[in-house]
Amino acid sequence: MHNRSFVSLLAYGVNDTAAFWAALQAMFASLKDDTVVFFSDNLLTWGKALHWKSDAALARAAATHTTNLTERSVVWRTATLAWAVRHALKIEGDFAECGCYRGTTARILYDIANLSDSDRKFYLYDVFEGAEDVADHAMPAHGPDLAAEVRARFAGLDNVIITQGRVPESLAVASPERIAFLHIDMNSEEAEIGALEALFDRMSPGGVIV
Ligand SMILES: C[S@@+](CC[C@H](N)C(=O)[O-])C[C@H]1O[C@@H](n2cnc3c(N)ncnc32)[C@H](O)[C@@H]1O
Repeated sequence: MHNRSFVSLLAYGVNDTAAFWAALQAMFASLKDDTVVFFSDNLLTWGKALHWKSDAALARAAATHTTNLTERSVVWRTATLAWAVRHALKIEGDFAECGCYRGTTARILYDIANLSDSDRKFYLYDVFEGAEDVADHAMPAHGPDLAAEVRARFAGLDNVIITQGRVPESLAVASPERIAFLHIDMNSEEAEIGALEALFDRMSPGGVIV
């Protein structure tokens, strides 16, 4: 395996862990020595360039703002989002993330897009406390303290606007008129369709929705 490879020890949805890792090891062993392998976030590739491994700004922001293996394991998704915000910097409008959870991805993207030197606003939405009828209500950090923790994470970054409450209803409290980058990450079809119904027409031409 090439030293440019990235293999995370996290795998989701596995019943027989020993059999799973043995199969993966056998698969790795079957490859030519210099093959670049990626396995993380339930994504397996080999022979791909992993261009994002040379992205110094991404590496720096991810190292600064992630605190655990779960957050680091989604690096390929983050690389895709990094592409999206860099593209969005050429487009008129603000940034928004529906479903920010602990604010980890948003904090990384804030640095990558250098928003501290920008007039653009970054709107973040989450219920934070979770609720039985909200998808992902059981995520570990959910609770009465999470909103304050996320606000503290963005303290002093005055162009970040955090709104607690349910999307789409909470979009009425504060939301951008023109959008260059929109990340919809709520794991809830109903909320995500609601977000698109409210925000799609505010996307600038060429803006990106992930
Ligand atoms: C997968 S997590 C978001 C992770 C985050 N985007 C990141 O990359 O770090 C999903 C989040 O969506 C939130 N969520 C689910 N339904 C929601 C709704 N209707 N309104 C606001 N937030 C919602 C949950 O509270 C949860 O924190």
